[in-house]
Amino acid sequence: MKGLILSGGKGTRLYPLTYTRAKQLIPVANKPVLVRVIEAIRDAGVREIGIVVGYTAPEIEDALGDGSQWDVALSYIPQDSPDGLAHAVKISRDFLRDEPFVMFLGDNVIEGGISKLIIDFAENDWNSQIVLKEVENPEAYGVAQLRPDGSIERLIEKPKVPPSNLALVGIYMFDRHVFDAVDAIRPSARGEYEITDAIQWLIDQGHTVYPHIHRGWWIDTGKPTDMLEANSHVLEEILPCIAEGVTIDAGSTVDSRVTLQAGARIVNSILRGPTVIGQDTLIENSYIGPFTSIYHNCQIRNCEIERSIILENSRVIDIDHTLRDSLIGRNATVKRSAVKPSGIKMNLGDHSTLWV
Ligand code: G1P
Repeated sequence: MKGLILSGGKGTRLYPLTYTRAKQLIPVANKPVLVRVIEAIRDAGVREIGIVVGYTAPEIEDALGDGSQWDVALSYIPQDSPDGLAHAVKISRDFLRDEPFVMFLGDNVIEGGISKLIIDFAENDWNSQIVLKEVENPEAYGVAQLRPDGSIERLIEKPKVPPSNLALVGIYMFDRHVFDAVDAIRPSARGEYEITDAIQWLIDQGHTVYPHIHRGWWIDTGKPTDMLEANSHVLEEILPCIAEGVTIDAGSTVDSRVTLQAGARIVNSILRGPTVIGQDTLIENSYIGPFTSIYHNCQIRNCEIERSIILENSRVIDIDHTLRDSLIGRNATVKRSAVKPSGIKMNLGDHSTLWV
């Protein structure tokens, strides 16, 4: 079994963060989503992984290297234009050869990993396995309509009138028959070779596609609100730990659900978990509430922060209001100004949003 991770795309719904960074590298609970995907595949026993990359290839290769850090072997497969998930399968044929494989979208986060799914696929003679999840907005996804016996009747990509609330999660398993499918289909109305159409083709040709219904949480981290939700879920799952070289002064209270990474300094502050504070980050005279991830080399002074994500090298200083449900990028500064005339001053990147 091999792994195939799709990691192209522009991430426009996460602008401005994705102007300067591949969306799959944005961390959730201080670990890039793409690394979480690699670890999920590795933990299911799959070591040979191909990563399909687009124009953010140099950044992704730089972050992941040959994969040895995670005990996997990574190969990079360039996709010159974003022509769809089925097109990504097509161009990965030389890497995949005739082996069965699991395909995982590099921006999906799922509860509980995929080990059980891989075992089920290996033990049955299905040609493909898909993962479905009940959602409130099925029109945003591929949607499955099942028969009364649970088998798949049809799959439709982003239907205006969804026939069910069962969305296709971005995790798929295939055997070699999928290559016939991706050769047979035509581009969709949005001009992409849809994996949903390829799977429909397999069904129409009489191949077995097993629909697994996922009961835990699943998040496609396309938008800032999705990132915050994924962050909350993952923080609840991780085992808290305090690394070496952390300092907590006598005036601080840090509860048992807080993770502190190497070199974090906590001075006269209250930290409530689940929360993670990154390497060499300083928290001073502040309250950091539940569901917050503050990445490496940040400075937080005289602030209250809850349910937020702050990326590396950023500073949040002397803010009177509680910062809540916020996503702050790298090297950003949020600070009270002492200069008159008073009022709100800002220096926002393109496509930024500020709620006051
Ligand atoms: C893709 C698939 C869709 C699936 C979704 C899951 O959508 O085309 O069927 O439900 O991933 O994340 P896209 O992210 O390309 O809009």
